[in-house]
Amino acid sequence: MITNFEKSDSMIKRAQELIPAGCHTYSKGPDQSPLLGPKVISHGKGSHVWDVDGNEYIDWAMGLTAVSLGHAFEPVLSAVRSELEKGVNFQCPSPIESELAELFLKSVPSAEMVKFAKNGSTVTTAAVKLARAYTGKKYVAFCADHGFFSYDDWYMGVKACNSGVPAELASLTLTFKYNDIASVEALFRQHPGEIACVILEPMEFDFPVDNFLHKVKDLCHQNGAVFILDEMITGFKLGFPGIHTELGIEPDLSTWGKGVANGFSTCMLAGKKEIMNLGGINHDKERVFLISTTHGAETHALAAAIASITYTRDNNTIESDKQKGLIINKEVNALIKKHNLEKHLELKGHPCWQLMVFRDKDGIASDGLKTLFYQEVIKHGILFRGTFNLSVSHTEEDMQKTFAAFDKAMAVYARGVDEGYEKYLVGEPIKPVFRKYN
Ligand SMILES: Cc1ncc(COP(=O)(O)O)c(C=O)c1O
Repeated sequence: MITNFEKSDSMIKRAQELIPAGCHTYSKGPDQSPLLGPKVISHGKGSHVWDVDGNEYIDWAMGLTAVSLGHAFEPVLSAVRSELEKGVNFQCPSPIESELAELFLKSVPSAEMVKFAKNGSTVTTAAVKLARAYTGKKYVAFCADHGFFSYDDWYMGVKACNSGVPAELASLTLTFKYNDIASVEALFRQHPGEIACVILEPMEFDFPVDNFLHKVKDLCHQNGAVFILDEMITGFKLGFPGIHTELGIEPDLSTWGKGVANGFSTCMLAGKKEIMNLGGINHDKERVFLISTTHGAETHALAAAIASITYTRDNNTIESDKQKGLIINKEVNALIKKHNLEKHLELKGHPCWQLMVFRDKDGIASDGLKTLFYQEVIKHGILFRGTFNLSVSHTEEDMQKTFAAFDKAMAVYARGVDEGYEKYLVGEPIKPVFRKYN
């Protein structure tokens, strides 16, 4: 049983004195962990991570889905090492930039040009800027049911945590609901000829129904807007190259990141030449100052992307992840049934990316019960943050150990549902990332 988090607790306290929130994406903060849980990870190998107290976990979080093959994965590391030896940043572009562009564009038939960056927010924001420049329109619409698109103003302006974003900017952002075509139609009706783009993930944990994606794309094109799909999480994980290909839909622009470089920092903005080329310098239209960053083409991160994409393609890792996901679905659902928790636990989504939903006595989503479940599986060496983020490194043994831990955790969870999570949870429930105050 894992019970000691002494070093974790003192290190995160110190980090919070030095770094706002003590971390570099709010999803990694201590408020996203049960009190009885690791707050600082020291290292990882394959599908396992170790915290600073020396506790070992089977990792289902995998760097917020970014680590799609495994921690310290040798085929990626050796590509990175050989680039590091040659230097990583020069005055002129390096050949590896075109090498990755060729590989990526060969892998992604919907795209004709691609531009690299370090962060997901950089490429989604660039997609929005490019769409505004291309269309000459000002409004942006994003799917409100999807988790996150960017920390930039166009997105954060309409979230609960919008301090620092002028209301004038926020007023240019609109939202709609997934699988609710009427909510998209309403936006185009309310803002005729003024919407530059619609951005959404092809899917999160609900599959598109009734041709939703195709209808959104048609609406965009009928109204002169750009159709953008964000494959940040789904790309190279739910399908090769992404889930949009399996869903039979072609975006005008697409954005990529987690899953592209096995945790290294390479993200992509890709799309049709007619739009993308506005960011170039060889045309006579007004130029768009697109992505322009000193570190955007750091060579070892591009090498990581080449090695990761190649490994994923050549070893068909998505198919093996899918098979593991199907086993997880079957076994976890059997456990839910065994503990009579069908009304209080649900596993949903694509086999390669499944979400567990935690519901209370009244069937309402409960952060308290969710945190209790995380706390209980941590005791048995499982780092689970609500989703199964599969990698090629996860083994049969990892899955069996996870099922054994889930079995024990569900027994406590069932008592938490009946008697209240407060009786079994040590500390506070996890807090929403987008909140106005502490
Ligand atoms: C779907 C999606 N788009 C964009 C982003 C932003 O990526 P980053 O955190 O690298 O800026 C995220 C990050 O969570 C994401 O999940």
